[in-house]
Amino acid sequence: MKIKQYWYSLAALFLMLSACTESVKTDLSQTAFIPKPVSVTASGSAFELNGATVVYVQEGVDGLLSSAEFLSNKINNFTGSAVTTETVSAAPAKGIYISVASGMPAQAYELNIDKKLVKITGADAAGCFFGIQTLLQTLPVKSNTGEPLVIPTGTITDHPDFGYRGAMLDVARHFFSVEEVKQFIDFLALYKMNVLHLHLSDDQGWRIEIKSWPKLAEIGGSLEVGGGTGGFYTQEQYSGLVQYAADRQIMIVPEIDMPGHTNAALASYAELNCNGKATELYTGTRVGFSTLCTDKEVTYQFIDDVVRELAALTPGPYIHIGGDESHSTPLEDYIPFVNRVQEIVVKYGKKVIGWDEIANATPVEGATVQFWADVENTTMGVEKGAQVLMSPAARAYLDMQYDSTTHLGLHWAGYIEVDNGYNWDPASLVPGIGKDKILGVEAPLWSETVTNIDEVEYMVFPRLPGYAEIGWTAPDQRNWDEYKARLGKHGNRFEDLGIDYYKSALVPWE
Ligand code: ACM
Repeated sequence: MKIKQYWYSLAALFLMLSACTESVKTDLSQTAFIPKPVSVTASGSAFELNGATVVYVQEGVDGLLSSAEFLSNKINNFTGSAVTTETVSAAPAKGIYISVASGMPAQAYELNIDKKLVKITGADAAGCFFGIQTLLQTLPVKSNTGEPLVIPTGTITDHPDFGYRGAMLDVARHFFSVEEVKQFIDFLALYKMNVLHLHLSDDQGWRIEIKSWPKLAEIGGSLEVGGGTGGFYTQEQYSGLVQYAADRQIMIVPEIDMPGHTNAALASYAELNCNGKATELYTGTRVGFSTLCTDKEVTYQFIDDVVRELAALTPGPYIHIGGDESHSTPLEDYIPFVNRVQEIVVKYGKKVIGWDEIANATPVEGATVQFWADVENTTMGVEKGAQVLMSPAARAYLDMQYDSTTHLGLHWAGYIEVDNGYNWDPASLVPGIGKDKILGVEAPLWSETVTNIDEVEYMVFPRLPGYAEIGWTAPDQRNWDEYKARLGKHGNRFEDLGIDYYKSALVPWE
């Protein structure tokens, strides 16, 4: 090659390479969004975010300001400056503008990014928050490089397939502090999940202060699996969690499991036992040995008080009554018990959710059966008019091990590798239970073996984004091979967030 030719080729190569890097930064369609949006159209240039960027928010819309401040705080973390939030009555010419518009499905948003202005338009405050999460996925999760932060321009229109997209945290087997629960809420928010189901009571622990029955928390909350010190949330702390979640468009569904899984209550109050004697506290992991005394009137006074106090603390529409694995309660006692408890929930203005066994009783209007194990129960629930929350243990239980080498978790429902957790469709899983019968999707994390937030992270990541996508993205838009490439691009994000995730060999981590 002649010298001149050589220099031409080198220059051409350099131009190609720089065009390539440039196109990654300015091509919105290259961003690995999870969950996958309904539509992404790139327009090929970039918005630059810096310390002078203002977040504007439409005045007079409930819930928008907290979302705008959430975004400002994130931007300030990137830029090290104090981005401000301003309330305005019309769209500005530049900056970031958050507003609502009519005519979109619930929780929908549209994101319009051009060189001067980023517009996040939601159907409601939730839609705006989800639009913010999408916007944040175009940026690193942390940045202190001082480099300009660019957001590729284009338009995203998006809405969820299911309105209810949740995860459950079992704070009863092992207790998790307020700070740990907040971290869990932050994980859900990253992927547009909008429900945190808190499993607040079980044989091993009672975790919520009930003022009319104080020994539930004092005695019932004192231990946890393995015999360590347990804990409970005061009502004030619980309300703080409700607010922290609400600021991230997440509702809390509190569960008091009954009539089984109640040893912590039975150890706290002798009168709840048929023989009038308090049980010993229990720190093992067996199930099915405890039951409230279903034919004592005091049992229903107890439940009435608990549901009354919990309903008053819970702005969301649901109270979860458990109802699973009540192996020590004869069915002829279980059925009238569940029917009576449902009426108590209704009396306090809430809707019932229960594990699939509650279908043996008569679901009240608006009741939801949470499918975890038994197709027959779930089908019976639907025949009796209930809707279904999809949490099939063999697909969606976050405490199931990834494979036989996983050091935490259990495998009674099987191993759930990341592909197995992702590759299913809620609306075709159970014959005869189609989308119109399904409230949504929830991934439960039971905590027999999981003792702290690092262990939570290992079981939850990287499966959680998959459950979020199952809830958000229509099944014909989902495909494991395409998903795993996007997931692989989130590994750095997990690392930057300090998340201890399972580095599945099935995912091409970048
Ligand atoms: C359950 O896993 N016992 C609902």
